[in-house]
Amino acid sequence: MHSKLSLRDLSVGNQRVLVRVDFNVPLSEQGQIVDDTRIVEALPTIRYLLEHDAKVILLAHLGRPKTGTSQALETNKKYSLAPVAKHLESLLGLPVQFSPECIGPVAKSAISSMKNGTILLLENVRFHQEEESNDPSFAAALGELGDLYVNDAFGAAHRAHASTAGITRHIRQSAMGFLMEKEMKYLQVELTTPEHPFLVILGGSKVSDKIGVIKALMTKADTFLIGGAMAYTFLKATGIETARSRVEVDKIDLAKELLEEARKQSIRFLLPIDCIATQTIEPGVPTKNVTLSPLSGISEGWEGVDIGLETRLLYAQEIAHAKTILWNGPVGIFEIPDFSGGTRALAEAIAGNRNALSIIGGGDSVTAVKQFGLANLMSFLSTGGGASLELIEGKELPGIAALTDLRAF
Ligand code: ADP
Ligand code: 3PG
Ligand code: MG
Repeated sequence: MHSKLSLRDLSVGNQRVLVRVDFNVPLSEQGQIVDDTRIVEALPTIRYLLEHDAKVILLAHLGRPKTGTSQALETNKKYSLAPVAKHLESLLGLPVQFSPECIGPVAKSAISSMKNGTILLLENVRFHQEEESNDPSFAAALGELGDLYVNDAFGAAHRAHASTAGITRHIRQSAMGFLMEKEMKYLQVELTTPEHPFLVILGGSKVSDKIGVIKALMTKADTFLIGGAMAYTFLKATGIETARSRVEVDKIDLAKELLEEARKQSIRFLLPIDCIATQTIEPGVPTKNVTLSPLSGISEGWEGVDIGLETRLLYAQEIAHAKTILWNGPVGIFEIPDFSGGTRALAEAIAGNRNALSIIGGGDSVTAVKQFGLANLMSFLSTGGGASLELIEGKELPGIAALTDLRAF
């Protein structure tokens, strides 16, 4: 499975090593870094390279800046990586140089004056539209800047962009960084032969986002616990009244098929038996705990925003005896504290099972776990959103596929 070259296989001393990192961190209105996890998680790779006398040149993107318009330059200021260089400097306790251009003479001159064991961050690669179109000459211009390439940007590994994929055609050797390896270990290797019982908790906003994950895990999981908005499409498919809850009408038939498939394969596919319902999605509004059955569904004008109290107990029991737990997607609108109880209850149950390997799939689920202060009680939290979903689905990630094969090495 690990058929790609690893950072440890490279001779990095005295080499210009281009490292693609995912520094796409959330920023406040004032431009402050709200969560620096992705930067912190890239430190082992960066420190290893510095300690092994490499010249470390970081490539990264931030946000989705507009390119090619006259206003682009002005609006793009907020997507500059300059503040990230400052933050990295404080984390490393070392100076981090910053180049306001990621290719061309400015970048080249900054690199030419680098000494071994020093670090430089290049400006947002997405300031060039050629990054996302994976333009070969832009990839070549990036490749020219280094001798070796390391991809540690797991969160962006599902993108076939110039700095994540195209660049490897223009560089001698390309390897996985330590964060990339860690993500692969938990989201791929551990899930290939999971310890049973293997429990999968799926929530979040849409069934359509998670179909691939459900299908891929049907052959491996013993039990699914369904929550979040996606639960209502399944509940509707079983004939339960969901009123104003978010249902994907065009996915009801598919939900029926998935439920039938689970039944055939003797997989336990549990849906909420009750939910918290409200008439308006706002903090402090009246709510009620509604039992979900064909005889008693949600009343007109109400909508399900969290799993109910009975469901929390039922799901917590399942969690307590699992050996492997994979969780993707909050089971309620956790951003509003009144509707976060179900997500919190499940996070606490996972934290309480010290015998299980617990893997949180990334995106909003990771945000929720961190918000509850339970992150350090989980075995692994992914730094990827879309990338973690695609990996679990069994898709090949372009950012990994492009790296040097071990056998070619
Ligand atoms: P992840 O990023 O973990 O994969 P998703 O992006 O699929 O998760 O979904 C997260 C979103 O789902 C959250 O913003 C949350 O508010 C929303 N959500 C969860 N439950 C409900 C619900 N019952 N109704 C509407 N939205 C919900
Ligand atoms: C992410 O934040 O999911 C990655 O950095 C990829 O960003 P993108 O969705 O803008 O490509
Ligand atoms: Mg999300």
